[in-house]
Parts: sequence; structure tokens; C-alpha cells
Amino acid sequence: MYDALFNPLQLAGVSVPNRIARSAHLLSLSLDDLIAYTRVRAAGGVGLSVIGAAGVHSTSARLPVVAATDAIIPWYEQLVEACAPYDMRLFQQINHFGAAMPSAPGIQNWSSGPVPNPTVSLVPRTLTKDMIDEIVGSYGAAAGRVKRGGMQGVELNGAHGYLIAQFLSTALNFRDDEYGGSLENRLRFVNEVIDAVRAEVGPEFPLGLRLVADDVLPGGIGPDGYAEIAKLLQHKVDYISVSLGTYWKFSKIFSTMESPLGYEMPTSEVVTRALDIPTMVTGRIMTLDHANHIVESGAADMVSMVRATIADPEIVNKSRAGNAHRVRPCTGTSIGCTGGSATGNFGCVVNATAGQESRMSLEPEAAPVKKKVLIVGGGPAGLEAARTLALRGHEVELHDMRKELGGQASMVSGVRARADLTSITQWLESEIKELGVTIKLNSFVDPDMVVDSGFDEIILATGGTADTSIPQTMVPGVSIPGSDLPHVFTAWDVLGYGGRANIGKNVVVFDDTGNFEAITATLKLVDEGAKITLVTRSDMPGARVPFPSVTTAVSREIMLGGDVELVPASQMVKITPEAVTVRWIDVDKERVIPADTVILVNWHHPNRELSEILHDEGIAHHTIGDVNGSQDMQRAIKEAALVARAI
Ligand SMILES: Cc1cc2nc3c(=O)[nH]c(=O)nc-3n(C[C@H](O)[C@H](O)[C@H](O)COP(=O)(O)O)c2cc1C
Ligand code: SF4
Repeated sequence: MYDALFNPLQLAGVSVPNRIARSAHLLSLSLDDLIAYTRVRAAGGVGLSVIGAAGVHSTSARLPVVAATDAIIPWYEQLVEACAPYDMRLFQQINHFGAAMPSAPGIQNWSSGPVPNPTVSLVPRTLTKDMIDEIVGSYGAAAGRVKRGGMQGVELNGAHGYLIAQFLSTALNFRDDEYGGSLENRLRFVNEVIDAVRAEVGPEFPLGLRLVADDVLPGGIGPDGYAEIAKLLQHKVDYISVSLGTYWKFSKIFSTMESPLGYEMPTSEVVTRALDIPTMVTGRIMTLDHANHIVESGAADMVSMVRATIADPEIVNKSRAGNAHRVRPCTGTSIGCTGGSATGNFGCVVNATAGQESRMSLEPEAAPVKKKVLIVGGGPAGLEAARTLALRGHEVELHDMRKELGGQASMVSGVRARADLTSITQWLESEIKELGVTIKLNSFVDPDMVVDSGFDEIILATGGTADTSIPQTMVPGVSIPGSDLPHVFTAWDVLGYGGRANIGKNVVVFDDTGNFEAITATLKLVDEGAKITLVTRSDMPGARVPFPSVTTAVSREIMLGGDVELVPASQMVKITPEAVTVRWIDVDKERVIPADTVILVNWHHPNRELSEILHDEGIAHHTIGDVNGSQDMQRAIKEAALVARAI
């Protein structure tokens, strides 16, 4: 099985044991936590890990890994030692972030020219020839440290709009000296960097180059142009890793669940098939079946699976052992990984241990005392609690009042581009069945059942309910006249969960939360051909999802491609049978929007009734998930894992 994948690959003097790689990913982890995170993926059977971009120079010292001084060498030694028991090769990506270096007091960003990066509010300083020489030298010195630290290879980031790409790309390089203009000139910087690194590490030490196949930037380079660049450079490096997109179209680098699996392949293949040296591809490749097909078909020699191995570090070993169905699926929202990392809080929506490997084992340990545990509610929190408890050896009974498990995650299964969300609850359901959890559906748990049940522990994962009467966030003391009219629905009604919305010709969706719910309902309505005005309390829909330029960008493109008008920063004033009246927040100016259908997306009512009764009767219990007032799958699964590990 997977013959193409489990076939070693020689890169210069190093043999990579299999073709599953983890391309570089820069995470907001401490150096110690990054070692623990990497070691767990080594144990899971990955063949090659490229550590996320390490800065080569003091003007590019982005944490956690900075290869600009010798101080990093002992850390490399620790990392290599931690991973030594496993058959995984360790490479380091080195980088100058150029204009993409986050601004810090007193720091000037250096770049090929004065082109600001969209995420960094600084006009960079144009590199002089002396500064270029200094940076080129720093790449060589950094590569030397990587080698001296015992790492087994080094990779240059020539992708994503970082410094090398700031020289390569016609959309970013406007120099008129020997480093700008012609292709030969734009290649001069990367050629000098490659030469400096090779001189430092020698011919036997693998040297890779990461490029994109398309800048996805007007005036930039496309797949044919990058194929030409890769062909001109391939004789100097040992492999080329192909990615997609730049900061100007950030979502392309790690696109979300709205994009097809393997979404980068059509552009990547234009580059990889033009080359004679080993190549790596990536982009929502989530199964070893898919990866094997890519290698077997000759489209690439290695397949990077970053988010798949964040969600389940053991994907390689499990799949190879014939247990692909036991692999925890990545839901593809990028909220925990990319969004979390960008906000200093790396994690994973489905894997509560991601980034916590120093403190949490991948799976829980057996419980010292076996208990009988009742769980009420079969959404993501209840399911994860049941899984964790069963793994620990407890006897678990899970009740849900509905006829199926999955909770709110199951309601989006019919929405285009949201099916991946349901994959996690489907997986959890199949896991708890495998682990022997007793499941009782259509079971409304009343307090009497709990009182006389003989359970040692009770966990309430009773979730929340969409409710148009919940107060508006910005004006909690003022109700919305007309919110009880028959043409006013919840997002759940749109999704056919509970009620059913009759959709007319002019729909107003009011988003009071800034999370994904209004976006998902709008996507469904766009698919149904409705004319929609999306009114949001925030500056844009999904504003409270971490890192919207990645996590909500693709949804936004689909929405705005439909018949959708956006009205930001507004609150709802009133609803009549023909229209809604909204006003700008804090501005006494109203606007009337015709509407024969209104979808109110406000905070959910947490289903705390059972908890309150048990509390009054003095019956101890735990609450996890949306019953605690959040509307956040990552938080729900994490709470479930932590509570279940403590029982
Ligand atoms: C949190 C995060 C950080 C990343 N940082 C880097 C990086 O430092 N250098 C790089 O070349 N790619 C980086 N990437 C891109 C990944 O290497 C990979 O191309 C991308 O995640 C798509 O692969 P996937 O669909 O398997 O996750 C990062 C990805 C993630 C999720
Ligand atoms: S946070 Fe989401 S996208 Fe990222 S690895 Fe986890 S499940 Fe996948």
C-alpha cells in the first residue's frame, strides 16, 4: 500500500525515508514547545520536516527561530536529539522577511524597493549594494549554523513575497540597477544567496528552494514564468518546493475549506513537470491516497501535508497500518493554526493537543479509577468528551435529543464548501462507536434521569440555540421592533435545522456576532440565487474570526461574487413587513433597506436549563462547549478534552 510514498528519496547526501513532508510553517510557539510539537510528528511517521522560516539577519529576527546568530545552535542540537529516535529528516527554512518583517520600534524594514507589505505598515528601505552583500553573507552564515547544529538540510524561502521574491517578482521589484528589470537581473539576488549558502554547506548538504507557482498578484509572475525561473536555478539546488500566492493574496498560501482538495496542483504541476530535480507540492492534500497518487503520477516527488499533520500527527503511521479511517480529519478553516499563530495562540480546531505537546500527551492516559459517566449532548464537545473518556477506560453513555449526532456541525453538511466541518463530528462518531460508547438518540434527558441514574460523573454538553430575541450587542437595552414577525428567521432556519425559512426576493441578513454563522447562511442563500443585503455590526462579515485575510477571505470572495451588498458597522433599528431600518453605530443616521425576508444572526441562547436545575439540587456536574456561552468549535473540543482528561 502507498508504494510510491514509502520509497526513499535521495537529496544530495541525505536519504529521506518516505515522501510525506511537512513544509515549513512558522508557529507562535516557544522554542521548547516547537521541539515537542516536531517530535510528535516525527513519531507519527513523517519523512521530512522543514522547520518554519528562520530569519538570517538582525533586520529579520522574527520569533521563535532566529538563525542570525550562533545562539540558535544549541537549540538545533536539542531538536535533533529529541527527534533522533525517529526516522525523520530535519531541514531548516531560512529567510529574510524583507518588507514582511513585522514592525518593531526603531527597526527599518529592508527590501528590494519601497513597496510596503499589506500586513506591515512600513515603507521599506531600498537595499544598497553594500546592504545586499551583507544580507547575502547572512544567508550563508545562517546556513552554516543550521549545519553545525546537526540539522540535515536547509531550504531558502523564495516564495510568498519575502525578500528573495521581492527581487524575483515583476510586481514587487522596480529597481533600475543590476538587480532589477530583466529576468537575469531579478535572479541575481537569489543566485548570490544560493552561491553563498552552497559555499558554506558544501555539495553533500541538501539545499532546497521554495518558490510559488503563481504570485497571484497583478503584474506578477504566473506558472510559466516560475517554471522558467525554476529551470534556470535547478542545477544549483537539490529540490524545489512549490507553493502558491503572496501576502497580497494571503489566503492562497493556505487556502480554506471552500477550495478543493489539492487546490495548488493545477499551478504547481506547471512548475514541477518542467524540472529534472526532485520537487515538493502541497495545498490541502489530506490523505495518503491522494499523496500517493500525486507521486505515482509523476506530478511531484514529495508531498507536504502541513495541516493534515497538525490535525492528526499520526496520519502517516495510521494510514500505513491500514487505519486511514482512524485519522482525525482537518476541517480546513485555518482558524486554529494560521489564525491562532497570527494572533500568538497557535492551536487546532480539532486537535486539542496541537501546540501543547509539552504538556499534553497525544492521547490521554488510562484513568486510575474507572467511572460511569453520563454525557448529555452529542455535538463536537460531547463527542470529544466521550472519545477521551472511553480512551481512558471509563464507561460512557452519551444522550442526544436529536435523531443524529453532530450538533450544530451537522447542520452545515448541505452547504457548499462547508462539508469539511462535518467531517470532524462524523469521525468522532465513528471513533466513539469503535470505542464502545453507549449512544442514546432521541433521548431528552430530564433531571429525574440524572438524579437516579447512578452515574459517577455528569457532563453537560447541551449547546446553544439560535434565538431572535437575544439582545443586540451594541444596544442590549433596546429590543428590535418586528423581530417576531413571520418573515424573520434564524440562520438555523436557513440551513434547515429546526425550522425552515421561506426565502423571498429581497433578503437582509443581519450579522451581530462577526463569526462564521452569518457567512455560512449567506453562502447558502447565494447558492439559492437570492438578492441579499448583508448588514453587519463589524467592519466586515467574519471580523471576529482570527486572521480574516486567510480564514474568511475565500468565503468573502464567493459572497461578493453573488448578488450581495455589504452594509458594515451598523445596528438594526426595526423590522417591518416590507423593510428593515438600520443605522450606523454611534451615528444618528438611518437607512431603510427593502426586505421581504430577514435573517437575524445574533448570539445563541446557551441551553443551561438542565445545569441550573442540577445546580439547585446540589448535583455536581461539568459543562463544556456552547452551553458555557461561547460559539466556538475549537474551544468546545478543547474544554471537552481537558474536562475528560481530569476525570
Ligand atoms: C501556521 C502556518 C505557518 C506557515 N509558515 C510558513 C513558512 O514559514 N514558510 C513557508 O514556506 N510556508 C509556510 N506555511 C505554508 C505551508 O508550508 C504550506 O504550504 C501550507 O500550509 C499549505 O499546505 P497544507 O494545505 O498541507 O497545510 C505556513 C502554513 C501554516 C498553516
Ligand atoms: S486548525 Fe483547522 S485548518 Fe488548521 S490544522 Fe486544525 S483543523 Fe486543520
